[in-house]
Amino acid sequence: MKAVQMNEYGGAEVVMVVENADKPSIQPGQVLVEVYAAGVNPFDWKVREGMVRQMAELKFPGAILGGDLAGVVAEVGTEVANVQVGDEVYGLAGALSSHGSFAQFAPAAAGSIGVKPKNVDFTTAAALPLAGVSAYQALVETLHLTSGQKILIHGGAGGIGSIAIQLAKHLGATVATTVSVAGAGYVKGLGADVVIDYEKQSFKDELSDYDAVFDTIGGEVYAQSFEVLKEGGSIVSMSAAVDEALASAHKVTAYSQFTQATTERLAELTKLVESGAIKVNVDRVFSLDEADVALEYVKTGRPIGKVVIKVRD
Ligand SMILES: NC(=O)c1ccc[n+]([C@@H]2O[C@H](COP(=O)([O-])OP(=O)(O)OC[C@H]3O[C@@H](n4cnc5c(N)ncnc54)[C@H](OP(=O)(O)O)[C@@H]3O)[C@@H](O)[C@H]2O)c1
Repeated sequence: MKAVQMNEYGGAEVVMVVENADKPSIQPGQVLVEVYAAGVNPFDWKVREGMVRQMAELKFPGAILGGDLAGVVAEVGTEVANVQVGDEVYGLAGALSSHGSFAQFAPAAAGSIGVKPKNVDFTTAAALPLAGVSAYQALVETLHLTSGQKILIHGGAGGIGSIAIQLAKHLGATVATTVSVAGAGYVKGLGADVVIDYEKQSFKDELSDYDAVFDTIGGEVYAQSFEVLKEGGSIVSMSAAVDEALASAHKVTAYSQFTQATTERLAELTKLVESGAIKVNVDRVFSLDEADVALEYVKTGRPIGKVVIKVRD
């Protein structure tokens, strides 16, 4: 099969497209997905560069990159009850498994895939799993965001932020978001009530008494975010470990999220997409042959929304 492989960690130069990779076999509890499209996340170039190798080492030579996928179930392993051969699905392959989704076929845990939303094509569906579940897990399950609350969402034009804005508005919250000037019109269109250009304005000077912050950035942005929260508020970060000292000084609750794309969360995301509450903007679509360019574009191209590799028609 055709696949995007690496034989060592590095930059764009280590990414190779091969035509004769072995079709992966599946373990109990897994399904083999014929990949129609694979979403590209910042995590994928971090895996490529070895930045997350402490979580799991890739198996060289021939490690296949990629997490997000949408496609059709080609084989079902033992101990799988939730899907059948021929089902249209989306979800996550193991981005650190060395058998990722940037390939014509990818194994995935049955518990990490769900039924694809019927109202979007495979390319759009592939943009949703990691970003959509990240937003759902944070806003619904951790923050329990409700109508009338105020939330600051950082990185509103990014993959996670753009879905989080729509979900927060759907839940009835007032949304402030930070973006660069290129994303300002986009996030207004998603329903953001307050738009802050992070390159010109200081969000901590503009906002106060917020119930919640969803931080997709980390570092100084995370530290300063505590200043906009009211007492009793909460912050979830995708990129920073919990700072207990800051949380206690501001009398707020801090969480650090590890996103897990489960079948149950994907089912909730599917409902939100099918009802029209959440739409995803696919900024650019690349072919499998252009995977090296796609990864660089996600790293440095400042996409608005998501980037997808289309694997087949
Ligand atoms: N913990 C987990 O389980 C988990 C899961 C998924 C993702 N993540 C992490 O979460 C982060 C966000 O993911 P993503 O897919 O949303 O990334 P993304 O699509 O690259 O979006 C990031 C956004 O942040 C904006 N940004 C950059 N610097 C900023 C600043 N100082 N203030 C406000 N916004 C800023 C960028 O805008 P410009 O391009 O205009 O600068 C971009 O739109 C990544 O680091 C990713 O690795 C963690």
